[in-house]
Amino acid sequence: MKNVDIKIAPSILSADFANMASDIISLENSGADIIHCDVMDGVFVPNITFGIKMISDIRKVTSLPLDCHLMIVEPEKYVEAFAKAGADFITVHYEACKDNLADVLKLIKSFGVKCGAVINPNTKASVLDDVLPLCDMVLVMSVYPGFGGQSFIAETLDNVKYLRAKIDQIDKDILLEIDGGINNDTVKLAKEAGANVIVSGNTIFKAESRAHAVLSLKNA
Ligand code: DX5
Ligand code: ZN
Repeated sequence: MKNVDIKIAPSILSADFANMASDIISLENSGADIIHCDVMDGVFVPNITFGIKMISDIRKVTSLPLDCHLMIVEPEKYVEAFAKAGADFITVHYEACKDNLADVLKLIKSFGVKCGAVINPNTKASVLDDVLPLCDMVLVMSVYPGFGGQSFIAETLDNVKYLRAKIDQIDKDILLEIDGGINNDTVKLAKEAGANVIVSGNTIFKAESRAHAVLSLKNA
């Protein structure tokens, strides 16, 4: 594998929502590279988290890039609002957009925000072949979206490997992110497969030292 710069993106799904600012500051002090914000609507996934106001409030307390993972139906309706709230990346699910995906990615870019496509564990990565050149990031789900603390699905590494090979053929710096069930063991598999942005919720939030957990994931 190429010697790539690994970025760690803690997922605030595992944060204390009543103390979000202090959790964000603690992640920043722990060496996090990106803040991964899981937006869920209770329709696309069977859970509800937070929305646009949370992103604009988080924007006031950190200068780290905000990576907004939209697990919502009809994401095109909300892209502008998330962009104005201060998102640096907006990723949308293939399964929520289907034939519309290229247009939604272009819409995200039109607001000056980096765009990304996400695939669920049971979606073949080849569905992204046509849109890959439009993406700044692709996100491979290694669990079914909706909840933190689930077990890593090893078969999803095939999607990571497929996309790594495709990205390496394109003359553009496209981040390859993996999300779900990442711990000090599974992170090694994810990196070997070619992921370079590592999302982690429980492993970081349940650690005695968040700084140590971030460093371990980075160096594993
Ligand atoms: C799942 C979310 C993930 C999740 C990861 O729907 O997209 O970002 O919070 O949490 P862990 O690392 O605990 O699996
Ligand atoms: Zn996520």
